[in-house]
Amino acid sequence: MLQDIIIDKLGTIPDTLIILGSGINDFVKQLTDKESLSYKALFDIDSDASIGHAGYLHLGYLHSIPILVMEGRKHYYEGVNDDEMRFLLQSFAAVGVKNLIVTNACGGMNESFQPGDIMLIEDHINMMGRNPLVGRNNDQLGERFVDMTEPYDIEFREIIKDIAYQEDVPLQKGIYVSYLGPSYETKAEIRAFRMLGGDAVGMSTVPEVIIARHAGMRVLGLSIITNMSTGLSQNKLSHNEVLEMGRQALERLSILLVEFVERISNHEGL
Ligand code: HPA
Repeated sequence: MLQDIIIDKLGTIPDTLIILGSGINDFVKQLTDKESLSYKALFDIDSDASIGHAGYLHLGYLHSIPILVMEGRKHYYEGVNDDEMRFLLQSFAAVGVKNLIVTNACGGMNESFQPGDIMLIEDHINMMGRNPLVGRNNDQLGERFVDMTEPYDIEFREIIKDIAYQEDVPLQKGIYVSYLGPSYETKAEIRAFRMLGGDAVGMSTVPEVIIARHAGMRVLGLSIITNMSTGLSQNKLSHNEVLEMGRQALERLSILLVEFVERISNHEGL
């Protein structure tokens, strides 16, 4: 059972789960006394099951604060259904994880952004045409209809802005637009998303944020702008470029993440 595995290792259920985006897997090197389990082992999923996620859960400590880190996530462009999209995150919510820090690699649509920038997600626009809560509602976790007034926790946003200021880490702010993929956007689509108010575009995050909010988790979202989106730069988009820029932002992102986890764990009544 997931709960037993986590408590065996950490002695408690950590408050916070971090999901790592493309190119920043090396963040797990920050964890001390780390144990890594494949999702397959963790959930006793046999290799034929359609839910067979490729990826690892890392259990460890950041400055002696117990933490869970997901390396590998499901994307709708892989062809997963809504059940499969919900499975991992709802499993963590069900055992009592309270906070989600979600990170991603994405394209910058705001012309004041540059590749390598980190953007605090202030809100999102779901352009995937999908919602992971479609289907039977898990009443134990949350209500059928989920309020989305402030999916990205206001207090968390204030804390991370303060940390960025104090640590001298530049932090952009903006609206994340989710796109189904796996093809990148066209120039016309980017023009349209910019007119809608989008600042960055990517193929993940929004489903997880919806699942987390349904379960009452508090969410912090950070994007790495790995490239300028289609039509805003001369270059064609390449996944290698995405991974490389992710790596370049890792050090700055790690400063923010480590300090954030420390602050929310020391912050009484938060
Ligand atoms: N578009 C969509 N997803 C992405 C991009 C992009 O430009 N860059 C990294 N992920």
